[in-house]
Amino acid sequence: MTASNDRISVCFVCLGNICRSPTAEGVMKQLVEEAGLAQRFFIDSAGTAAYHSGQPADARSGQAALRRGVQLTSRARHFAASDFDAFDYVVAMDRKNFADLSRLAAHERHRDKLSLLRSFDALASGLDVPDPYYGDNFDEVFDICLAGCTGLLTHVVTRHGLPR
Ligand code: 4NP
Repeated sequence: MTASNDRISVCFVCLGNICRSPTAEGVMKQLVEEAGLAQRFFIDSAGTAAYHSGQPADARSGQAALRRGVQLTSRARHFAASDFDAFDYVVAMDRKNFADLSRLAAHERHRDKLSLLRSFDALASGLDVPDPYYGDNFDEVFDICLAGCTGLLTHVVTRHGLPR
């Protein structure tokens, strides 16, 4: 667990950090808030590419989240290798993100922090959160992120012995 504030830290990672990982970040923040665990967590997101750095979430992701009562507040940033030291959980949205992150993970202890969001959803129909950027499946992406984050929170609560 990272030393900062003794919080359990989670970084969701996609390609651009404007669609999928900001959605997962917003959903996870909402879930820990609802569970009364907000003070126990630090939740962030980042992208394996830097081309949207500084931008807010894509408006289409923001609107899909708002329809479900979740506000997306992130600003895009590029994932850095040092994030593997700063975060306890680095959660990739798809297998390409996972492979790109694996190349940045210099140590076994870094690789141990890496997972796929949908691996926490026992009912998932696939491994990847689909990239919605050139499509119109933002509501589906929200649902997939919600299912994955729900499973991730259960996993973390159990692993760290947090109160339910
Ligand atoms: P994200 O979606 O990885 O879920 O943030 C994308 C955002 C931007 C681009 C691709 C995917 N892009 O090519 O600019």
